[in-house]
Amino acid sequence: MPTNNTYGIHIKGIGSYVPELIADNEMFSKIVDTSDEWITQRTGIKTRHITNGEPNYFLGAEAAKKAVADAGIKAEDIDLIIVSTCTPDFYTPSEAALIQREIGAIGSMAIDINCACTGFDYGLDMAKRYLQSEDGVDTVLLVATEELSKFVDYTDRSSCILFGDGAAAFVLERNKDTLWSSYLGADGSGAKFLVSRALKSENVFRTNKEDFDMAMPQTKDHFFAQDGKEVYKFATRALPDAVLHACEKAGMTPDELDCIVPHQANVRIIETAAKNLGVSMDKMVVYIDRYGNTSSASIPIAFCDAVAEGRIKRGDKVCFVGFGGGLTFAAVIFEY
Ligand code: UT7
Repeated sequence: MPTNNTYGIHIKGIGSYVPELIADNEMFSKIVDTSDEWITQRTGIKTRHITNGEPNYFLGAEAAKKAVADAGIKAEDIDLIIVSTCTPDFYTPSEAALIQREIGAIGSMAIDINCACTGFDYGLDMAKRYLQSEDGVDTVLLVATEELSKFVDYTDRSSCILFGDGAAAFVLERNKDTLWSSYLGADGSGAKFLVSRALKSENVFRTNKEDFDMAMPQTKDHFFAQDGKEVYKFATRALPDAVLHACEKAGMTPDELDCIVPHQANVRIIETAAKNLGVSMDKMVVYIDRYGNTSSASIPIAFCDAVAEGRIKRGDKVCFVGFGGGLTFAAVIFEY
């Protein structure tokens, strides 16, 4: 395991926030042909939190305020805000700019990233690279905030039952590096498997009325569509593979990890990954029953719950591992 003294990430504060409104499986059985039994058995989900009019950036700002308070810093100390989201409120401004406004960190750099469900892992890796440089970045606020309910098709029973809304944030300071390894990647040949489309190109000068072949499925407006089986196959392969690669880079084996916090998409995917890795489910941090799939917020929300419940403690060796739209995959290993 690395014992270097170079500068990098130290996690100084954490916080999460989910909207108050809760939709349980019974509520879904009233709008589509489904049941608590099917959803529980096939996904592990019982409830999800869903916005009741509050925007995506609001969730992120609430989580950020908690992380800033937990870190014991002032918002003005933040040099860089990175926000992971695939469900922004605007094309512009960024969610990072709006969250900056809400928490009063005026003047910091602010940038959004979108790699769907792996965004928090990518964000940690990015933050490390900034914190390592001798460029005056000492404090990074990393936020994942997602309002998936706004692109869920609530007539599609195979996908609408999966998603929830929520946010989580870390304050990261430049200190002795505790991010031991990251293994990040993407496979764009699977871009068509998880889709929510943006505005179509309809400018006034356009003469070509034919749709450009983007090699993507036809979907209903901006609504989310997925090939559940393909994503399932990818996920059960990508999760253990990413953990093993990150472990190899850190010079350790999966059983040396205190816990693995996987993207919370389906408990069966997590069970298969655990089996393929040869680790027990006790090592896997799973709160999918409470929140469903909150995309890039799912890993840090689960982490915050596990810390609050005393399941993860300072000094623990933790692996965050995700997969998602893109298709993307990512694992990071750090000491909390
Ligand atoms: O962040 C990444 C996001 N996406 C994922 O991670 C998705 C990964 N995929 C999955 O989690 C699973 O493929 C699903 C949960 C989406 C579907 O589970 P499944 O066990 O693969 O079900 P299936 O698609 O094979 O469908 C089995 C049956 C079908 O009925 P028939 O054709 O056998 O009569 C479906 O129509 O289950 C039916 N079904 C449902 N029944 C009750 C599908 N959704 C529902 C539902 N309630 N909500």
